[in-house]
Amino acid sequence: MRAYRFDALNSLDDLVLHDEPTPQPQRGEVLVKIDAVSLNFRDLAVVLGRYVGPADAGLIPCSDAAGEIVAVGESVSGLKVGDRVISAFHPRWFGGRIPMTAARDAYGSGSDGWLAEYKVVSQEAVVRLPDGLSFEEGCTLPCAAVTAWTALSGAAPIRAGQSVLTLGTGGVSIFAVQLAKALGATVIGTTSGPAKAERLAALGADHVVNYNEVAEWGRHVRRQLTGGEGVDCVVEVGGPATVNQSIHAVRPGGEVVLIGFLSEENPGIDYFHLKNSRATVRSIGVGDRPALEDLVRAVNRTGIRPVIDQVFPFEDARAAFERLKSAAHVGKIVIKV
Ligand SMILES: NC(=O)c1ccc[n+]([C@@H]2O[C@H](COP(=O)([O-])OP(=O)(O)OC[C@H]3O[C@@H](n4cnc5c(N)ncnc54)[C@H](OP(=O)(O)O)[C@@H]3O)[C@@H](O)[C@H]2O)c1
Repeated sequence: MRAYRFDALNSLDDLVLHDEPTPQPQRGEVLVKIDAVSLNFRDLAVVLGRYVGPADAGLIPCSDAAGEIVAVGESVSGLKVGDRVISAFHPRWFGGRIPMTAARDAYGSGSDGWLAEYKVVSQEAVVRLPDGLSFEEGCTLPCAAVTAWTALSGAAPIRAGQSVLTLGTGGVSIFAVQLAKALGATVIGTTSGPAKAERLAALGADHVVNYNEVAEWGRHVRRQLTGGEGVDCVVEVGGPATVNQSIHAVRPGGEVVLIGFLSEENPGIDYFHLKNSRATVRSIGVGDRPALEDLVRAVNRTGIRPVIDQVFPFEDARAAFERLKSAAHVGKIVIKV
């Protein structure tokens, strides 16, 4: 089979196509013929040395895939040849606290990922894809959509009539806009320019703020767009350079969900500002398998269609990574295997 590996972690030139033996499933495992893979920022961060966790060179990248089961090992139950499945971001997190094995298991940074023609995994590491979704759509769900779902469904889940602030128009944020609207929330989205602002509005964002024009967008959201109260939840993907604005935007008793690290500048957090916000700060790591199952059900029932920016052929995988690096995309970038 053909499989991409990052032979080194210096630049996108290190993404190399290899010819390798096709693996065979053992007891409890399934062989997936991969049809589509989607990219997440972390796939890029790993090779650019910007990932927040440990990362090894030489691995097959990418955590998110959809495909068909073409062989099963002994004792596999509940899945059969011909089933359409998607990968679970965390192959061994079935509930409760995130397991200590999560970093070692992490596809593309601690273990081989999915940017290949075939992959063998435990039967517990995949979830069935509903008939209503294509492979290209399904492969966008495991990381970005589950992260958005986890962000909106904390200890005080977002309910109709509440408000959500999303940052930018990447994979996580666009799913957060769609899911928050489906839950009946008011959505405020930030973005970098007018074309992306139009896309956000078309997806249902009630207010859009151009952060290149409104530097103090956190205060703007609180004072101008929420009557001085602040939003109930911030889906914080920007990281160190945006978190202070997010704290300005959140209401007392609201939640800033720490997700991303898109920004590189790190001015630090003002402790007294954070303390005085009376908000909860929750740092998340995608979500467990039940969250993926809930999310798949929600997408299927609500009719949400994943927003796909562009689909690249397998042979042009590097171009897909370049597109992600450009940050010109809206939603998800997909590679058709
Ligand atoms: N902790 C977790 O569970 C978890 C899970 C998934 C993702 N993440 C992290 O969350 C972040 C988003 O992931 P993603 O895959 O959705 O990313 P993505 O698709 O690459 O998002 C890129 C978009 O974000 C906006 N952006 C870029 N740089 C920015 C900056 N410095 N400040 C604010 N916005 C910026 C841009 O949109 P505009 O031009 O519209 O502003 C850009 O198009 C990444 O850091 C990722 O690693 C964490």
